[in-house]
Amino acid sequence: MKYRMFAAGLCLLTAACGQKETLFADGAPQVKAVSEIEAGAYIADIGGCHDCHTPGWAQNGGAAPEDVLLTGVPVGFSGPWGTSYASNLRLSVEAATREGWVVAMNNRDGRPPMPWWTLHRMSPEDLGALYAYIASLGPAGEPAPAPLPPGTVPETPFIWFEPVGPEAFPAAAVTQ
Ligand code: HEC
Repeated sequence: MKYRMFAAGLCLLTAACGQKETLFADGAPQVKAVSEIEAGAYIADIGGCHDCHTPGWAQNGGAAPEDVLLTGVPVGFSGPWGTSYASNLRLSVEAATREGWVVAMNNRDGRPPMPWWTLHRMSPEDLGALYAYIASLGPAGEPAPAPLPPGTVPETPFIWFEPVGPEAFPAAAVTQ
């Protein structure tokens, strides 16, 4: 909180601030690596992007063959917002210019559980590195299924994203 207020104060005093909120007083941090593509790979890894966007990633202890990295997952995330699917980022990047992608990701909002705020707060340099990394993988896979409005039953498997009480625990899964 203190950092945020300090950053806001600096914004009033200097014209150097962008419009977006930064958590840091001295501007957005930036990942350094031997190449931009490696910086992007690192951000995707520790930024948790694979957790949702790469099929099998979490089930396989945080690893997947390169041909499926960030190709999206056809398992829905369902809740009050309807159903969303983690997009195929390799096709998203292929359809956008680097400049357009960076600006869009800094500003765009969408459905949960995508952590949009993570992209809003990322520096343009880090978003550019992500773009370069994803583009280096090349286009692959199919587009994820289209999102569904609230109240629509998905045709794919889905994960229900609302807290439920203990009574909703499936009886068949109780072992003690
Ligand atoms: C908890 C799961 C989750 C995580 C973690 C996650 N995403 Fe997403 N992402 C989604 C979902 C679901 C959507 C679709 C959202 C919608 O329908 O509005 C999405 C959409 C996107 C889109 C829009 C693609 C398009 O073409 O419309 C981009 C870009 C994106 N995510 C990038 C990232 C990046 C980069 C990271 C890591 C910093 C990340 N995501 C982490 C679930 C996730």
